Amino acid sequence: MAMKILSIESSCDETAAAVVVDGQEILSNIVASQVPIHRKYGGVVPELASRSHVEAILPVLDEACRQAGKELARLDAIAVTQGPGLTGSLLVGIAVAKSLAYVLGIPWVGVNHIHAHISSIFLEASTIEFPFLALVVSGGHTSLIRVENHTRMVLLGKTRDDAAGEAFDKVAKKIGLGYPGGQTIDRLGREGDRTAIPFPRALLDPGSLDFSFSGLKTAVLHYLNKNEENLSREQIRDISASFQEAVVDMLVLKAFQAARKESTRAIAIVGGVACNSRLRERFSCEGAVSGIPVHFPPPALCTDNAAMVGVAGFHLLARGFSANLSMNAYSRYGMDPNEA
Ligand code: KG4
Ligand code: ZN
Repeated sequence: MAMKILSIESSCDETAAAVVVDGQEILSNIVASQVPIHRKYGGVVPELASRSHVEAILPVLDEACRQAGKELARLDAIAVTQGPGLTGSLLVGIAVAKSLAYVLGIPWVGVNHIHAHISSIFLEASTIEFPFLALVVSGGHTSLIRVENHTRMVLLGKTRDDAAGEAFDKVAKKIGLGYPGGQTIDRLGREGDRTAIPFPRALLDPGSLDFSFSGLKTAVLHYLNKNEENLSREQIRDISASFQEAVVDMLVLKAFQAARKESTRAIAIVGGVACNSRLRERFSCEGAVSGIPVHFPPPALCTDNAAMVGVAGFHLLARGFSANLSMNAYSRYGMDPNEA
C-alpha cells in the first residue's frame, strides 16, 4: 500500500505544505513565501514570521490537499519540521501537525530541517548511491554531511560564522541589491569579471572541513568603503562576480576534499544557494574532471519547501520512528532526536 504523507514546513519564512507518496512522488507542493513581509527590514523578523505562519498555515494545508486530490481522511501520516529554525515559527507547524494527526488517528514524525534539505535529492535523483557527501548551503546553514543511508547522516564540518546564503544576502544589501539578494548577485555576476577583485578565500587549518565567510564579507565592505559611494553598474557586476567566485571556490574545494577523504560515491548540493548558476557550473565541471558524480535538486526543491520534509518523514516512519504528544521544537542543529 502506498503511503501518502502530508508534510509541513514552517522553520523560517516560508509556510509550506505538501502531499508526497512513498517518499518519491510529489502530489502537491505549496509554498507561501513571507519575503514581501520581511523585505523592508532587510532580514527575517522572528515575531512577524510566526504571526504570518499562523495566518497562512491552514489555507496552505487546504491547497496542498486540494491539489493532491486527497481529503485529510485519506492521508496515512504527517511529517513536520521540528528544528533547527525559529522556535516560534516551528511551533506553529508542530501544533497543527500534532492536532491533525491526533484527530485523524494517524502517526506523525518530527523531521530535522537539514535532513529534509538533503532528502530533496531523493525526489529528483533517486539513483544516487550511498554513501554520498551532502553540501547543505542555505541562508541559515553551510554544512558538509556524510549520508550513510536515508536516515543516518554524520556532520563533518560547518561554517564557523556566517552561512553562505547569509553572506550573499549581506553583500547584496550593502551594494543596494535588496533582500534576499542571492539570486540578484547570481544574475548580475554572470555579466561581471570574476577576476576583477581578488577577494580572500578562507581555508582555515589544513584538513579542516569547516567554513568561514565573515572575512570575505568584511573584505567586500572594506572594498566598498575605499571606493566611491555611487557604484557604476559595471562595478556592481564585477563585485558580484568576484564575491560569488570566492564563495564558490571555497565550497568546491572543501566539498571535493571531503568527498575524497570520506571516499563517498557522489556529491549532492542542496539548500537555497544550490540554485546558484555559477555554483552549479563549477561543481558539474569539477565532478566531470574528478569522476565523482554531482547531483542537484531542481531549483524549486532547493529553497525551503515541504515536499522534502515528506521524503525525510517517510524514511523515518519506515524505520519505526514516530512522535508523541510531548514532541517539542528545537532551535539548533545537533539535538536531533531522530538520529538513527
Ligand atoms: O534554503 P533556503 O530557502 O532557506 C534556508 O533554509 O535558509 O535558502 C535561502 C537562501 C538565501 O540566502 C538566498 O539568498 C539564497 O538561498 N539563494 C541564492 C540563490 N537563490 C537563493 N544564493 C545564491 N544564488 C542563488 N541563485
Ligand atoms: Zn532551509
